Amino acid sequence: KTTAYHEPYRPQAHFSPKKWWMNDPNGMVYYKGTYHLFFQHYPKATIWGPMHWGHATSTDLVHWTEQPIALYPDKLGYIFSGSAVVDKDNTSGLGANGKAPMVAIFTSHDPKGEKAGSSKFQNQSIAYSLDEGRTWTKYKGNPVIKNPGIKDFRDPKVFWYDEGKKWVMSLATKNRITFYSSANLKDWTKQSEFGQTLGAHGGVWECPDLFPLKLNGKEYWVLLVSINPGGPNQGSATQYFVGHFDGKTFTPVSTNTKWIDFGPDDYAGVTWGNTGKRKIFLGWMSNWRYANQTPTKVWRNAMTIPRELSLQLTAGDIYLRSEPVEEVEKIVSKTIKVDPELLAKNNNIFSVIKQTPTQYVLKFDTKAANNFSVVLSNAGGEQLIVGYDAKSMRYYIDRTKAGQTKFDKGFAQIAYAPRLTTTLETDMQLVVDASSVEVFADKGHSVLTSQFFPKKPYTKLSIVNHGLEIEHLEIQPLKSIW
Ligand code: FRU
Repeated sequence: KTTAYHEPYRPQAHFSPKKWWMNDPNGMVYYKGTYHLFFQHYPKATIWGPMHWGHATSTDLVHWTEQPIALYPDKLGYIFSGSAVVDKDNTSGLGANGKAPMVAIFTSHDPKGEKAGSSKFQNQSIAYSLDEGRTWTKYKGNPVIKNPGIKDFRDPKVFWYDEGKKWVMSLATKNRITFYSSANLKDWTKQSEFGQTLGAHGGVWECPDLFPLKLNGKEYWVLLVSINPGGPNQGSATQYFVGHFDGKTFTPVSTNTKWIDFGPDDYAGVTWGNTGKRKIFLGWMSNWRYANQTPTKVWRNAMTIPRELSLQLTAGDIYLRSEPVEEVEKIVSKTIKVDPELLAKNNNIFSVIKQTPTQYVLKFDTKAANNFSVVLSNAGGEQLIVGYDAKSMRYYIDRTKAGQTKFDKGFAQIAYAPRLTTTLETDMQLVVDASSVEVFADKGHSVLTSQFFPKKPYTKLSIVNHGLEIEHLEIQPLKSIW
């Protein structure tokens, strides 16, 4: 039986809208105890179309309530990706009766202009809300940044740069990021450009995010840049740079190309604003290669699990680590420790724990010198494999035989991520949910996210390896958030 949120493949521990199409997370901001999540949404079909901003709210990052649509297309065009801020000092003058406005900054994408062959069809606009994000008014002076003649000119991410007492915007401008600043969110001045000769350039740059993070007490700035295509496992993916930002210019500390997630299904992710020292990231769990074709009916595409970001010095370079936010514990129904020795006799964790969860967290340690593979399978012979190949020092997700793959010719693939740490032990955490797996290896140094679509749910979870040295194995079935 199909009921809302219980259709085949429907994630139970991740956000997806009740119905219809979703892509990028937008306007993520924490305000008065509420995490706001807006998202690219087409509320008439399960394929991409005229973009709206859908809206969902949460007080704990795991339970989500879908709200009415926040922004509808208008005469300037579709509402493409962007961000939201709380203008607490009313620098924009858009507040009223002592109320600070929430201001959304987004791209107006004019499909007519695009068709007519203009290069100026993407412009930046703003809208404001005086009731904590429930209802929105578009600013009369839109657009606030006019396109200078660059076809790809979009996805403004804005934050308050306190050192300089100004707003700073990162904007994706084709093959680079352009930084702007403003005193009032309405008048913007170009500051600098970054990246034309750095990083991956297999596709257009999209959805930037710039934020500070500390490493051993020292502040660095992280710049996220999504790119499509040109990801490490084909199609869309998100690279990042670590460096310094002086209010005008971003300068990276190294020229290595780094990926926040090597898997095929984590795109357009950015972080929440207003969360103090915490930096919480959320991505769209799909890939433009096949986002419109995956075999779901009522809705299409979900977000990743929210991830806490931190910096880590490894082999002379600075990397991001991402791990599921601690709030995920709120939906853990039980932590079940499994003695790995038991698996020698009965290599099915589900039969050892006497339940067959479809959403759970699996944690274990193993020695990096050994191969291992976690195999999820069903009686129909379908299997998803998450493993480590010690020889090439790579983690991988093999979904070649995981279920339905024919909707896209490249979907049946093995995705790889290099192991970035040099410790002897590996620390594995897998978040599995109906049709997705997120692999956080070595405390989130190497991350891989992948969708999969078995014809029947998996009923067996085994660990296969050569030199079985699995330790501290535990499984946490998760409660459904719906
Ligand atoms: C990224 C993206 C953005 C754009 C939006 C349109 O996935 O292409 O650059 O604003 O999707 O829906």
